[in-house]
Amino acid sequence: MNIAILSRGPGLYSTQNLLRTGLSKGHNVRVLDHMRCNIVIEKDCPIIYYGNEVLTNVDAIIPRIGASVTFYGAAIVRQFELMGVHSATSSEGLLRSRDKLRCLQLLSTAGLGMPKTVFSDYTGSAEDLVRAVGGCPVVIKILSGTHGMGVVLAETKQAAVSMIDAFNSLKERVLVQEFINESKGTDIRAFVVDGEVVAAMKRRAQPGEFRSNLHQGGTAIAIKLSAEEEKTALDAARILGLKVAGVDMLPSNRGPLILEVNPSPGLEGITKTTGINVAARIIESIEKELASKKN
Ligand SMILES: Nc1ncnc2c1ncn2[C@@H]1O[C@H](COP(=O)(O)OP(=O)(O)OP(=O)(O)O)[C@@H](O)[C@H]1O
Ligand SMILES: [Mg+2]
Repeated sequence: MNIAILSRGPGLYSTQNLLRTGLSKGHNVRVLDHMRCNIVIEKDCPIIYYGNEVLTNVDAIIPRIGASVTFYGAAIVRQFELMGVHSATSSEGLLRSRDKLRCLQLLSTAGLGMPKTVFSDYTGSAEDLVRAVGGCPVVIKILSGTHGMGVVLAETKQAAVSMIDAFNSLKERVLVQEFINESKGTDIRAFVVDGEVVAAMKRRAQPGEFRSNLHQGGTAIAIKLSAEEEKTALDAARILGLKVAGVDMLPSNRGPLILEVNPSPGLEGITKTTGINVAARIIESIEKELASKKN
């Protein structure tokens, strides 16, 4: 098989891991920078240029699209799809999950649990937002944040109102969310490939911190999910149309609550924590998909 990994970081752990695993399974694998791909749109003839090269003979792509270039990256993935190339992550799944608000809207209407969340235009009253999620403490998140950056805990109404006002004055859009105290600084990452949770870990925040992101000093252990957690993770990936997904959940008294569904989940933390070769599972799911198309 000819597999292209779409990645801006050829040296990144996830990219390298997918590359090595694909090669070891006997495939031709190359890394393409999606930002260097140009799309040519013409009647019935979708083409992608990579520099001077017209990309042909690509059987499958594995998109590893960073959040900051979602729009362009999704357009490149869509162009590959139009060319009949199988994508491990569909362009639609990528767009649905990257828009945090749209993602929560889709999952909530499908009956999945999540922390109560409000979102409003900058003009709204900050106090109303805090009241709408049941009062303090609240978690305030800037929409474009990742790795725990731009996620703050406001324990009092004064703190919440001044933080929301500060973000508003910077024209930074925020979500205001009920604080799930009983998760006690932990969250769960379920790694889904092709309708199966192939690996899962629990992350714990360092003392004095409520954010469990590994980038914020959190630690992780491998876990086996409860049946409810597993179902929630699989439902979330399916509803968003993602074959590969990192589903983040907070444990709570009312069951698992979804925080986020990541369409390009990092491989390093989950692989090192669980010892499971998730890259191999991704490549195998592509092999299965292409074999079923042939038959
Ligand atoms: N409503 C909440 N109640 C309790 N803890 C929370 C809540 N929201 C987030 N946290 C904690 O803060 C961490 C970071 O939040 P979140 O995952 O929403 O943002 P992020 O990691 O910056 O963004 P992304 O996951 O989209 O890259 C979570 O992993 C979790 O430990
Ligand atoms: Mg997160």
